[in-house]
Amino acid sequence: MLMQLARPQEEARVAIAGPLQLAVIIPTFNEAANVVPLLDKLSAALVGYHWEAIFVDDNSPDGTADLVREIGQKDTHVRVIHRIGRRGLSSAVVEGMLATSAPILAVVDGDLQHDETALPKMVSAIENDEADIAIGTRYAKGGSVGQWNKLRHRASQGATWLGQKILRVGLSDPMSGFMAIRRETLMAALPRLSGVGFKILLDIVASLPTPPRIAEVPYVFRSRLNGESKADSMIALEYISLLIDKTIGRFIPTRLVSFLAVGGLGVVVHLSVLGTMLALGASFMSGQFAAVATAIAFNFFLNNRFTYRDRRLKGWKMVQGLLTFYLVSAVGAIANIGIGNWVHQMDSQWWLAGIAGVVVGAVWNFAASSFVTWRK
Ligand code: GDD
Ligand code: MN
Repeated sequence: MLMQLARPQEEARVAIAGPLQLAVIIPTFNEAANVVPLLDKLSAALVGYHWEAIFVDDNSPDGTADLVREIGQKDTHVRVIHRIGRRGLSSAVVEGMLATSAPILAVVDGDLQHDETALPKMVSAIENDEADIAIGTRYAKGGSVGQWNKLRHRASQGATWLGQKILRVGLSDPMSGFMAIRRETLMAALPRLSGVGFKILLDIVASLPTPPRIAEVPYVFRSRLNGESKADSMIALEYISLLIDKTIGRFIPTRLVSFLAVGGLGVVVHLSVLGTMLALGASFMSGQFAAVATAIAFNFFLNNRFTYRDRRLKGWKMVQGLLTFYLVSAVGAIANIGIGNWVHQMDSQWWLAGIAGVVVGAVWNFAASSFVTWRK
């Protein structure tokens, strides 16, 4: 496979001396078939620039990293950062940007969907100090999403609208992953960067202390020829977590928000099970028991999948995790009842006592499960 893709190279792609001007960061996961065509297209588009290519590959099973290394032996302007045991488009892009000395950083998808002929315009907007970030946009005049089905189009529009409203960024295509940025601008965003999910541009713009000057360069999104897209429902959730982190995340940890949201769904599960059991003629006591047991298991699985997706328990560890989560939740329930009673003795407002119990119980469950069930 590798032998077929790599081809002998008599001359390096970048033959210019003088200081390094530009780095093109290319995040990849299973893009082996696209590496050589992409490098050829970039070389043609960036003639006259002294640039380097940094591939950031998350240990793709198709051997993308090996292929890039093979090319890099002859062409030292092609480098790879090979990450093991990690995934994530945004974090890959940031690592690539931090691994180069170039003053201007461009990001291009590794699947040929971004039109590299827009790059010179984007880069010169920054060189000429017209902008701090130049964005390849599909939604301005002259740009388009190309061939997309209705559903994907709608989903992208919805996410774009949400990003624009919530983060109050005036970009026509905040979801774009095609951009060029001045190094100083990246540095200014780094301290507050979330680094989660797929949307690095939105993350950078929302993390900057002052609004950047933006240039938008329209392009037509190509369809994918080789390999497949990694966008899935998990990516949508990571997008929501990015929006949370960039808004209320300054005050409450995103994990806690997720844990509480799961807890809210758990209440719904609890009531449904209880209602069903009672309708089937069970006693209140046994209905409650079944409801609590089901809701806790439900919360465990959801938290394991979403809240703690980065520490997700699998196989035998998952059984252990479920048991410790039952223990933690039992202590949480006792704390809930105890605190509730205690507040109720001091203040006769029943709802205040109830809320106090719930808050203490929830915070306990969150803190204890993060140390016991999903221990790092
Ligand atoms: N290192 C790394 N790790 N790379 C990844 C990962 C990952 O976990 N997931 C995806 N990539 C790489 C892919 O290999 C590809 O080169 C690029 O990131 C984009 O991923 P796709 O799976 O092709 O996503 P897409 O086509 O839905 O969306 C992309 O293009 C949009 C249009 O500009 C993304 O870049 C979006 O952010 C962008 O808006
Ligand atoms: Mn793509």
